[in-house]
Amino acid sequence: MTGAGAESAGVELTGTRPAPAESAPAESAPAGTGAAEPGLTEDETGLPPAALTDEAARLDAADRLRAKRDAFTLDDVIYLDGNSLGALPRAVPPRLAEVVAREWGQLRIRSWEESGWWTAPERIGDRVGRLVGAAPGQVVVGDSTSVNVFKAVVAAVRMAQERGAHRDQILVDEATFPTDGYIAESAARMTGCTLRPVAAGDVPSAVGSRTAVALVNHVDYRTGRLHDLPGTTAAVHAAGALVVWDLCHSAGALPVGLDAHGVDLAVGCTYKYLNGGPGAPAYLYVARAHQPGFDSPLPGWNSHADPFGMASAYTPADGAVRGRVGTPDILSMLALEAALEVWDDVTIEDVRAKSLALTDFFLRCVEDYAPAGRVRSLTPAAHTERGSQVALRCADAGEVMAELVRRGVVGDFRRPDVLRFGFTPLYTGFAEVERAARVLAAVLKEG
Ligand SMILES: Cc1ncc(COP(=O)(O)O)c(C=O)c1O
Repeated sequence: MTGAGAESAGVELTGTRPAPAESAPAESAPAGTGAAEPGLTEDETGLPPAALTDEAARLDAADRLRAKRDAFTLDDVIYLDGNSLGALPRAVPPRLAEVVAREWGQLRIRSWEESGWWTAPERIGDRVGRLVGAAPGQVVVGDSTSVNVFKAVVAAVRMAQERGAHRDQILVDEATFPTDGYIAESAARMTGCTLRPVAAGDVPSAVGSRTAVALVNHVDYRTGRLHDLPGTTAAVHAAGALVVWDLCHSAGALPVGLDAHGVDLAVGCTYKYLNGGPGAPAYLYVARAHQPGFDSPLPGWNSHADPFGMASAYTPADGAVRGRVGTPDILSMLALEAALEVWDDVTIEDVRAKSLALTDFFLRCVEDYAPAGRVRSLTPAAHTERGSQVALRCADAGEVMAELVRRGVVGDFRRPDVLRFGFTPLYTGFAEVERAARVLAAVLKEG
């Protein structure tokens, strides 16, 4: 993979259909349940029923994950924003009610032991670990992604400098989600390093003998581009440096293979494709080989070898527990644990196959329905370079997304001109995808 601009491999959407007639007859929209109106009928979009409608029905009928949708609270709204905030799993409200009423309400402080609260970060970490290819004992859940980026980057610099004090550079993916960049800059100042932004695809050629650590997003949050984790990790290791991967947009959407590819450290959030809820705790992966050397810049009492010894001197615990800091947010953490139950009988390979089928199908529908030249895909056409979202560049993206939301198709808008549509294979269906493209085409035509 090269560091070529994100647009270079994007899909050209030329629009193959003639523009629909201006005077398409209007019909009343079907009743919806949310505040937003559901999508327009086919006639209102100005597009006749197409072969793609039949194909969507065939794809839905063959979808092995189809029944999983029932595990979520959803309505008529076509929800394509699970790459920002996943939908609510049905298992969560009753579990939270039980935690509040019994574990907190009745057992109170006994729950730290008897309800397994104290060990929840490691226990839930193992569940997340299964989804990102980490064997048990290497993932700990807690804090935000931002805080975990800080722990991981500083600890990585410390480990790299143990190998050689001359390692005084931090490479950061130049298109990174901003929080990673801000924190990497602060980490650089604290550790006497300089920060060098480079395109994620250029990390393998930019890494060198002065590099301490490279911090890279697995999937670009704007374009949906999937970066080469195995190749980049190998190149960083060949230069004697460490790599920290931000998995926010890949965990729960595609296989990551942390152990298989020898990743050093990784972080990610759980409120997107893992559906843990707003502000759900993030996670930190510390590869087993690095655990003895992991020197946390936030050595709180929860990561102490003997937290209740209340010693004045800090002695780190063994294992991934070293990544803990202070008292975990138990309510959010146990909501996440309940949310992760939907994964018990799902393989990430099936999720990936459906994710690619969904994004392929959406791109085809947009190509077929949208007026020529109104949108341009920023998302790579190659499956090996695509996450689980489609980003469309559109001059009036803000207005277009506001209108889509009003008509019951929820994606999001990234300034200045990007429409983002996230596809969550556990609950998104092909008919919804076709419908979303149809409504988008109508809005683009009107705009
Ligand atoms: C790639 C990426 N990294 C980091 C974050 C920020 O995470 P947090 O706000 O949980 O610290 C986000 C949030 O969307 C993200 O997409």
